[in-house]
Amino acid sequence: MAAESLIIRPATLADCEALARVHYESWMAAYRGVMADSFLDTLSVGGFESYARPRLERPVEGQSYLAAEIDGEVVGFSRAGPTRASSPTGDPLPEGFAACATAELYAIYVLPRRFGAGVGAALLSATAGEMARAGHRAMCVWVLTGNTRALEWYKRRGAAPIAEAPITLDGVAYPQTALLWPDTSLL
Ligand SMILES: CC(C)(COP(=O)(O)OP(=O)(O)OC[C@H]1O[C@@H](n2cnc3c(N)ncnc32)[C@H](O)[C@@H]1OP(=O)(O)O)[C@@H](O)C(=O)NCCC(=O)NCCS
Repeated sequence: MAAESLIIRPATLADCEALARVHYESWMAAYRGVMADSFLDTLSVGGFESYARPRLERPVEGQSYLAAEIDGEVVGFSRAGPTRASSPTGDPLPEGFAACATAELYAIYVLPRRFGAGVGAALLSATAGEMARAGHRAMCVWVLTGNTRALEWYKRRGAAPIAEAPITLDGVAYPQTALLWPDTSLL
């Protein structure tokens, strides 16, 4: 049988539904037991489609939105861009945080049945390349502290913890850890 081929490419509007499915399934795999079931049970593929669609329809200059595809199937994605001034739900970040890194990995999600096959590593490396080409040297990422699998995955790829701050989701404040890659050209 021919080897499967992994492609990393810009995400397009035609990927919207597939990206939403990846996002939903990856959330369920990563956050069940970390976030409240009462919140996770309200989520749906349609909700994640509403998240993806405006970002695909109106790409923002300086941001990167990449899709990972294996033999024509979308199996992962990443988003990155300038460091955000607050959490996605509006929680304040530690003072001066944005000065630590001008670029931020906003999201990286892989279809659970493809975990451990190198998709995440390929997305991370391509995203770092995009941020380096956009003139950023350091890149940060916020991860739920309870998402130990991702936390350890980032650390094994050279990121070091630099800050902590909560993110509020459905009225619950979850601890988050920020990690930093000082030099995206090394990823
Ligand atoms: C965290 C995540 C993005 C990592 O992506 P991934 O595709 O599973 O990661 P990779 O396959 O690149 O790397 C995982 C391991 O597989 C190994 N690997 C790489 N290529 C491989 C291959 N062809 N076959 C088997 N294993 C392989 C790597 O060595 C790596 O091992 P290590 O971490 O012990 O060094 C993914 O697991 C995920 O989506 N998790 C849920 C969502 C999440 O937590 N996102 C982060 C939110 S902040």
